[in-house]
Amino acid sequence: MIAAVPSTPRHICRLTTSSIPQRRATGFSPACRSPGSAVISWHGSAPPQTRSPSARPGSAEGDDVTAILPQHQHKPTGNANDAVPVVSIEDVKVHFPVARRSTLRAIDGVSLQVFEGEVLGIIGESGSGKSTLGRAIVALQKVTAGRILCDGVDLGRLRGKALRERRRGYQIVFQDPDGALNPRLTILQSVREPIDIERQGTQDERNHRAMACLDQVGLGPDFANRYPHQLSGGQKQRVIIARVLTMRPRVVVCDEAVAALDVSIQAEIINLFAGLQQKLGLTYVFISHDLNIVAHLSSRIAVMYLGVVVELAPVEDLLSKPLHPYTLSLLQSRPDPVPASMRTTQRETLKGEIPSALAPPSGCRFRTRCPRAEKICEDEVPAWDNPEPGRWVACHFAGDHRTKEFS
Ligand SMILES: Nc1ncnc2c1ncn2[C@@H]1O[C@H](COP(=O)(O)OP(=O)(O)O)[C@@H](O)[C@H]1O
Ligand code: SF4
Ligand SMILES: [Mg+2]
Repeated sequence: MIAAVPSTPRHICRLTTSSIPQRRATGFSPACRSPGSAVISWHGSAPPQTRSPSARPGSAEGDDVTAILPQHQHKPTGNANDAVPVVSIEDVKVHFPVARRSTLRAIDGVSLQVFEGEVLGIIGESGSGKSTLGRAIVALQKVTAGRILCDGVDLGRLRGKALRERRRGYQIVFQDPDGALNPRLTILQSVREPIDIERQGTQDERNHRAMACLDQVGLGPDFANRYPHQLSGGQKQRVIIARVLTMRPRVVVCDEAVAALDVSIQAEIINLFAGLQQKLGLTYVFISHDLNIVAHLSSRIAVMYLGVVVELAPVEDLLSKPLHPYTLSLLQSRPDPVPASMRTTQRETLKGEIPSALAPPSGCRFRTRCPRAEKICEDEVPAWDNPEPGRWVACHFAGDHRTKEFS
């Protein structure tokens, strides 16, 4: 698979509250000292780029999808032939046996590669299988078929100590920090817990490492003896990130890691993730249902629908020239400040609910909601095509919707 990989340092600009569409009206009230201000800045002399949609032939005209492009436009999108994947997901299926001998196909044949130092975004509606895939990557979920290689090793085949040692390098941050923090432990104890369990080094060394990790996420020594109930939501998520850092991971899966936070705090945590990537060379799999958030961090985005990946592309291409009708629907379903009556172009928003993974539609899984569907879509599963370098899509009419329905 050809894929886009950051091969040069990424130019990251500071994400501000106003960069994220306001879902909730909140004031900006930094809950704690942010290390982002120290570590996130322009590197090099290149200024932020902006691009008009009309400047790009074939873009979804009039629909300013580039408005949600990240301000940093320096994510390399070149050929990754010489890149070695850190994570290689090979035709993975995760099926859950459910009542009445039925099978729920949460993941149904996904192949993806994640390359060193990149941020692979995964988007899709609720129920599309994002979390199941994220858990499978860090070996918290067994796969039914296929395999996931982490630095060439199939964690699913390891047991006991070998699994524990290997798994350290592949960590996950979930949405809900409350559920992940023991209310009876102090912040220092919580951060230290993973290395305590593994009995790494002396007590002093563990304390030292935990304090250093707290510092990296912007929480000073005065937080060490507090309890979770004395922290804000953003601060708790910082504690979770510090915990993960104690394991010195190579890959961090962020599963809706900012979804539960106020919009101003979301920006802080996203800046923190970006800063840590710069400092520590981390690789992220960034899972979210919110395309705007994924776009700010990712170099490539995989779009999931009902257990399969329907499109994979460098972020700029995906936002400005989506090839799959589902991707276009996601783009056009995002909140728009312009009232429908004042819009000059038609927006095809996503209608209906995602079908049950117990009985996915035949042929193309998106056909029951696709405005472009034809008979072949019911009869034949669309092939996973590579129409342009670095781009992959599964649709019998990939790209046609841009001229047919939305011009
Ligand atoms: N442990 C489980 N047992 C049965 N079904 C599950 C389990 N975990 C997830 N699912 C189902 O798998 C599908 C994908 O879920 P999930 O991966 O959580 O999607 P997403 O994160 O995209 O919302 C859903 O239909 C969900 O109900
Ligand atoms: S294959 Fe057919 S139903 Fe599926 S996305 Fe493409 S046009 Fe729509
Ligand atoms: Mg989920």
